[in-house]
Amino acid sequence: MANQRAGILGTGHAYPEGILTNADLAELVETSDEWITTRTGIKQRRKAAPGEYTSMFADPSDIDLLLCATVTPDQILPSTGCIIQAELGANNAAAMDVVAACSGFLYGVALANSMIQNGQSKYALVIGSEILTQYVDYTDRQTCVLFGDGAGAAVLGPVEGDKGILGAKIKSDGRYEEQLFSPGGGTRRKPTAETLAAGDHFFKMKGNELFKVAVRSMAEISRDVLENAGLTPADIDIFIPHQANQRITEAVADRLNVDSSKVYSNIAVHGNTSSASIPIALDECVTSGRIKEGDLVMMTSFGGGVTWGGVLVRW
Ligand code: UT7
Repeated sequence: MANQRAGILGTGHAYPEGILTNADLAELVETSDEWITTRTGIKQRRKAAPGEYTSMFADPSDIDLLLCATVTPDQILPSTGCIIQAELGANNAAAMDVVAACSGFLYGVALANSMIQNGQSKYALVIGSEILTQYVDYTDRQTCVLFGDGAGAAVLGPVEGDKGILGAKIKSDGRYEEQLFSPGGGTRRKPTAETLAAGDHFFKMKGNELFKVAVRSMAEISRDVLENAGLTPADIDIFIPHQANQRITEAVADRLNVDSSKVYSNIAVHGNTSSASIPIALDECVTSGRIKEGDLVMMTSFGGGVTWGGVLVRW
């Protein structure tokens, strides 16, 4: 039984200092600033230096549930969530990782929302943190131009009145595994000198097919979540889709008929930061004053798995 309404009480983000520009990539693979800009909207992305790892970019807080969305964990065991917990001294929290690729943050928000609603948690820290540039094959121009590093986080807790999370929905379809995957490194294809040499640990993507599923799924789930809350796309004040590709963002907004003035995009400067993209965007909107009290914020994501999600918040 849902009783306690949850809301987003605070946000934050961080990223490494290093910047990888389109010009830098044009020196590594046969590509150009012109192609990357027109096909993806990306101009630059952040790149972690050796010695910087996923847990270092997360935000501190006092919490009883800590969910770290990541597909680039510091190590296999323990979870990056537990590593962050120790760094923060968040000793009362249950900490774990959420592995849902670019949808990981919204998966975390949906889970934390349920746990706060049913009283199992009071304050939850949901983090999206990725160092994707370590899993990118810088000889594969389809993927290497897209991904960047960074982290974002939100603290969820109880709210009163009509504010807070009005709806959250998450979905996946494992039949699309090979549209975006990293085949090596696990028990199916454990790391050996051969798998490393073959680049099995790198992300492989069928970008073209994924593009269509991404647009369809994000538009559908946004519509669903809005409808369940008795609202329509016309009610949205700020639309924050996962920053996968500027053309995907525009196509989803088009399908929902959301005016471009309401659509947030930072892909030009961050690229695709997977699970970090939505919390970074959310924090940028909050700190810049783009999100104001009472605004209806629709967030939607799509990622490898494939996974997708939608979360609707009255700010
Ligand atoms: O975050 C998880 C979700 N991620 C996604 O959903 C990503 C979805 N996919 C995409 O963003 C796009 O499919 C890409 C950006 C990956 C590719 O864009 P596209 O418009 O779908 O290009 P394409 O794959 O259809 O390729 C068009 C052409 C090809 O050349 P030909 O066959 O027409 O001669 C590619 O070889 O562009 C070529 N190409 C490039 N050229 C210059 C592909 N990548 C590059 C590149 N630079 N980096």
